[in-house]
Amino acid sequence: MTKRNTEFFPSDLGNEIASQFIYLNKDPAGNKRLFFENAGGSLRLKAAVDAQSKLSSIPDCPERTHDIALEIREIIKQGERDIRLFLNAKDGTVAASLTASKLMFEMVTVIASASEKGNIVTTAIEHPSSFDACQLASDWFGHELRVADANPASGSIPLDHILELIDENTVMASIIMTSNITGAMHDIHTYASAIREKNPAVFIVVDAVQGAPHGPIDVNSWGIDALNIAPYKMFGNRGIGFAYLSDRVACLPHHRLLATPENNWSVGSPTPAHYASFSKVIDYICRIGAYFINSEDRRALIEEGMNRIHLQEQAILHRLLNGSERQPGTKQMENVNVHFEEINGVNQDLILALTFDNLSCTDVIRKYGEQGILVYARESTSHYSKRILNAVSLDAIVRVSPIHCHREEDVDRFLEVTEGIAAGQI
Ligand SMILES: Cc1ncc(COP(=O)(O)O)c(C=O)c1O
Repeated sequence: MTKRNTEFFPSDLGNEIASQFIYLNKDPAGNKRLFFENAGGSLRLKAAVDAQSKLSSIPDCPERTHDIALEIREIIKQGERDIRLFLNAKDGTVAASLTASKLMFEMVTVIASASEKGNIVTTAIEHPSSFDACQLASDWFGHELRVADANPASGSIPLDHILELIDENTVMASIIMTSNITGAMHDIHTYASAIREKNPAVFIVVDAVQGAPHGPIDVNSWGIDALNIAPYKMFGNRGIGFAYLSDRVACLPHHRLLATPENNWSVGSPTPAHYASFSKVIDYICRIGAYFINSEDRRALIEEGMNRIHLQEQAILHRLLNGSERQPGTKQMENVNVHFEEINGVNQDLILALTFDNLSCTDVIRKYGEQGILVYARESTSHYSKRILNAVSLDAIVRVSPIHCHREEDVDRFLEVTEGIAAGQI
């Protein structure tokens, strides 16, 4: 098994990164806080927030021909180029909508409505936006819904569980890149190739909302048909989702202003602020890449930046699990159970799923909160979590989700509090 990286960013880069985030160490009320809830929406980059605000203040319509309008138009174009570069989308179309969920419903519905009756394959750990989209589209357009089971020990969907459901009548397969609850990562390139080997015509749809902030995306080499992301999970702002659609999906019948090209998915006027803000996120990722490689190629810098973010997050995860000479890790603590990671190894995203003996997850997150640490309990009382937790035979977990800008001392503080909670001292 590949060994997990244990080296944190060099301290000068770590300092530079930390200086770019808002509310990294304090909440908006000024109280000291460790924000380990990034899977619910990540810490924001100052530059992304500033760009959003700056562009939002300008009234000019980009469709006009005066200088400011032309500048705004260029900002939108640059944003679109950056989305394509981030996804490595060399063909197809980029679509935007208010949420990533809305895009998922649209993409799935368009594919299901244009296909002859067959079956749609999804998985037991999909977010409700893709699972329910597949279920509704199956009901509406007469497809059979097939659901691949999870491996409860890893919280992932083994490839063979998907392949055994794919046949010559499969219309679409929907796979989550990284689970926002278990943290299990799927190697989409391998999954998509294996699905295509069984049936080359299957439309492959990927939910990359949780995966996008933690490692590179490459729709070109993965050979998939649709994929969505949400900037607010990747250091940017709420209020927009983006998606890639392959040429064959983009041209299927969909809501479109009829004077525009057949593959156009933009309906109505775009919001320049969202594009300006996303370009700042990409600038930031490129800056991390440029720390390690010398290149003028923005895609190469994005790939390097995302790979380095992934390595830093593996180092954070390693320390969370195994601790250091200063502090024992969660794996060494009595009364603390770490789920999924043991089996996933390097395919575990920076999500630590914990349960505590003799303590409810609700009580645990309250105790963390009292110590200035924000984590979240995913419980089966929430419709966002219920099916997924059932699929992995759990009722609730404490989800711990830092991101790459966190440092050794943040991990150690978290471990110190965890030890206190587990020992009944907090
Ligand atoms: C894996 C995954 N997919 C999709 C979504 C939906 O994102 P949104 O609520 O922004 O549409 C989320 C949000 O938490 C998610 O974690």
